[in-house]
Amino acid sequence: MTQLFINIKELVQVRDAAIKKVSGIEMKNLPTIKNAFLLVKDELIFDFGTMDKIPDLSVDEIIDCSGKIILPSWCDSHSHIVFAGNREHEFVDRIKGLSYEEIARNGGGILNSTKKLKETSEEGLYDQSAKRLKEVIALGTGAIEIKSGYGLTVSSELKILRIINRLKNNFDTPIKSTFLGAHAVPEKFKNNKAAYIDLIIEEMLPKIAKENLADFIDVFCETGYFSIDDTKKILTAGKKYNLIPKVHVNQFNSIGGIEISSKNNALSVDHLEVLSDRDLEVLKESNTIPVALPSCSFFLSIPYTPARKLMDNGLAMAIASDYNPGSSPSGNMNLVVSLACIKMKMTPEEAINAATINGAYAMNLSEKVGSITKGKIANFFILKDVPSYHFIPYFFGSNRINAVYLKGKKVH
Ligand code: NIG
Ligand code: FE
Repeated sequence: MTQLFINIKELVQVRDAAIKKVSGIEMKNLPTIKNAFLLVKDELIFDFGTMDKIPDLSVDEIIDCSGKIILPSWCDSHSHIVFAGNREHEFVDRIKGLSYEEIARNGGGILNSTKKLKETSEEGLYDQSAKRLKEVIALGTGAIEIKSGYGLTVSSELKILRIINRLKNNFDTPIKSTFLGAHAVPEKFKNNKAAYIDLIIEEMLPKIAKENLADFIDVFCETGYFSIDDTKKILTAGKKYNLIPKVHVNQFNSIGGIEISSKNNALSVDHLEVLSDRDLEVLKESNTIPVALPSCSFFLSIPYTPARKLMDNGLAMAIASDYNPGSSPSGNMNLVVSLACIKMKMTPEEAINAATINGAYAMNLSEKVGSITKGKIANFFILKDVPSYHFIPYFFGSNRINAVYLKGKKVH
């Protein structure tokens, strides 16, 4: 099956196969081709270029994109979309003045979602999660990482990871799964965190590995959750099963999570709303990519990750949705791009790089998605008539997407 997209007003993020991520000043550059064609063959990007270079061959379908802009799909490298129900009462409590941490201390927060998940059947949880995935695909997401972490028992964590596996099999979008058993200490282990960590290491990890249910391992490394020593122990245990770390660090406090993650060869460190000078120095010496989650900052009214500081120091960075019921009940990557520009002072080019090629890198997927590159999966979206791609962040809050293609198939 070959499809030829013609008269594309602007084809955005066209890259050479060798580029896995872009760092620092390179992030200001977003290569595009005006008046372009795009040729898709058997689910992959086969060729692209200016209209005058269109190859002479017979195709199955021709799609005229006059006046329209095409971008590669968003690569959302941090989400928690497998959750049950919602936490709208906590939302109202926060409006009335309680903080995220106070709500968690009063039995709300992650443990509230854990309770709801336990009461939900595997089928019901799958349906809720698949619905969320469909919703974000329609909003342009074409590759996503999904974490466990609302189970916190052996059976419930496995239940979540199996659901992620089913989503992997049933959707045409690359999905990576992350084991986040160390998301919170469950009620039962309130006075014995060490025993819960033992459960993670001795029971959960071997079972997950046996069924091959996770690509990555994560820990909520934060005051009141898991310490540096806890994090080290869990990441080291994960290494035995080849689980690469992607770690929640520096959301509220800088306690050394960046350093311990980078020492354990983490692929990414995520959140970083708080960043010390020492943290910055560690990042400059490491290959670990920082991931900012601006919709979490927006929703919780906490500081935004200092993106300018990271990029002006030559670092790469990605942006992701953090879609979850407690700190970011939205998986809209268009809004994430807007917030990155408006609140973090990223240029549209930097934000689009962070949400595509660098997001792919933060999932170990930059050889498959994240740019318009020959041989990559044909996951992209077409914008409605807009003067330029700047309209994605500029006209925040409205959907500018006209059509979504996954593996070259129109899905929305
Ligand atoms: O990334 N910070 C830890 N985990 C999630 C929030 C989880 C929740 O509140 O349900 C986050 O923000
Ligand atoms: Fe998160």
